[in-house]
Amino acid sequence: MIRILLGAALALALAAPAAAQTAVANVAIDTSKPGVEIDRHIYGQFAEHLGRGIYEGIWVGENSKIPNIHGYRKDVVEALRKIHVPDIRWPGGCFGDLYDWRDGIGPRAKRPVRVNVHWGGVTEDNSFGTHEFMNFSELVGADAYVSLNVGSLAPYDSAQWLEYMTSDSASSLANERRRNGRAKPWTVRFVGIGNETWGCGGNMRPDYAADVNRRYATFANTPRDMGSLKIASGSHDDNFDFAETMMRDGGRFDGLSVHYYTVPRIFRDKGPATAFPESEWASTLAHALHINDIVTKTATIMDKYDPDKKIGLYVDEWGTWYDQEAGSHPGFLYQQNSLRDAEVAALSLNIFQRHSDRVKGANIAQMINVLQAMILTDKGKMVLTPTYHVFDMYQAFMGATPYPASVSGPDYKEGVPMVDVSAARGKDGKLVLAIVNTDPGHAVQVVTNLTGTAHGRILSGFAMDARNSFADPNHVHPLPFSGSTQGGKLSFDMPAKSVAVVAVD
Ligand code: AHR
Repeated sequence: MIRILLGAALALALAAPAAAQTAVANVAIDTSKPGVEIDRHIYGQFAEHLGRGIYEGIWVGENSKIPNIHGYRKDVVEALRKIHVPDIRWPGGCFGDLYDWRDGIGPRAKRPVRVNVHWGGVTEDNSFGTHEFMNFSELVGADAYVSLNVGSLAPYDSAQWLEYMTSDSASSLANERRRNGRAKPWTVRFVGIGNETWGCGGNMRPDYAADVNRRYATFANTPRDMGSLKIASGSHDDNFDFAETMMRDGGRFDGLSVHYYTVPRIFRDKGPATAFPESEWASTLAHALHINDIVTKTATIMDKYDPDKKIGLYVDEWGTWYDQEAGSHPGFLYQQNSLRDAEVAALSLNIFQRHSDRVKGANIAQMINVLQAMILTDKGKMVLTPTYHVFDMYQAFMGATPYPASVSGPDYKEGVPMVDVSAARGKDGKLVLAIVNTDPGHAVQVVTNLTGTAHGRILSGFAMDARNSFADPNHVHPLPFSGSTQGGKLSFDMPAKSVAVVAVD
């Protein structure tokens, strides 16, 4: 009952016309300048063997009381299918830099037990391995992004793993896969040549990392007609050495990765996921927007070596990183997900959409129960986070053609414009707009240069840390939202701290 009343109150608040003193932002969308199609892989996910991301989050085993499809939890599979997850990166992350694929094939009871040294020192029984991941990707309808271990295994291991997964021949490895239950080869769309070579992937220097890429990429092959893309491990944050050196000396590859996490404060003292002051709402959004500088600078470096833009930039780890929830298992990186995360997701996706000529993929960290998750679970229960709802709303942008959208309006804080807009022509021919009001305390009227009507959905809430809990799983969810006509122009009354996606009729 309380939930119904809150939902109704929020709906009324969202429907209320902007007051006379409401701030105004003007948006000019230039449909005469279509950009490069937005690659649907920018809405990709990352699932590492970390905390409860894989075990409990995805895999509960066939004998679990939690409803499952061949061991994969049914609620999660259904939720992921609904947002058309384009690809899933696995098995790490740092976990992948110590992962031996042979540990995760064959009868589960016979698989070796290892220690997950990076994440909590817990034992890893390898019951989720190659078959479980590749079949899960197929079940969800996502492409597989397999990150190879170039830090602690030889190139020969990568070559063998890829042959095991993708060969249709009568080789011993292909036959071993068949004996283990998979007749047809799987498709590996993305082959990650390592992870964070500058850090947990081997603490390499840029020159050495470039040589490692040349060497491993030589042997990391799939059948030619599979069209797999090799992604070299690149830079992070404001360190551009790896991007520069990899582009110059890294040999042949199809994509270059970059990693960037948004923290409210500094990495050693990140700040809580909920119950934060407004100053941390503001700093989080400012830090999230900084990814635009990182993408722009990396793209400039790439332009020097690849002016025809044949190599894609893959932001294959991004998202918020807070202090992990008090009382949760150390090293499991479990954090709550609130309206603030929804804003970070929307601002980041808008940036990737604007850079569609270079950014060809991105993987939010991480899919379930870890960092900025789509989904949280507690044994048999599941909630969809505000971030999930943003990804759901942004489906309209998959494969769309972007248009420049320039906003003139007030700043919420220095470096954080109050309004952020992304515009594109969807696959269905409709013009779609994503509009973000970053101000947690004030509504804004967004006046476009368009005419017509617009309908879609909006995500907002009363509190900056409004979130969904297992007791109240629908506290934050999208509501219907429409534009109105002001002075002959299509306009939107955006309540404080809101994200809307609408299609223009
Ligand atoms: O996503 C958590 C960790 O962050 C990954 O394992 C690593 O690649 C990055 O540093």
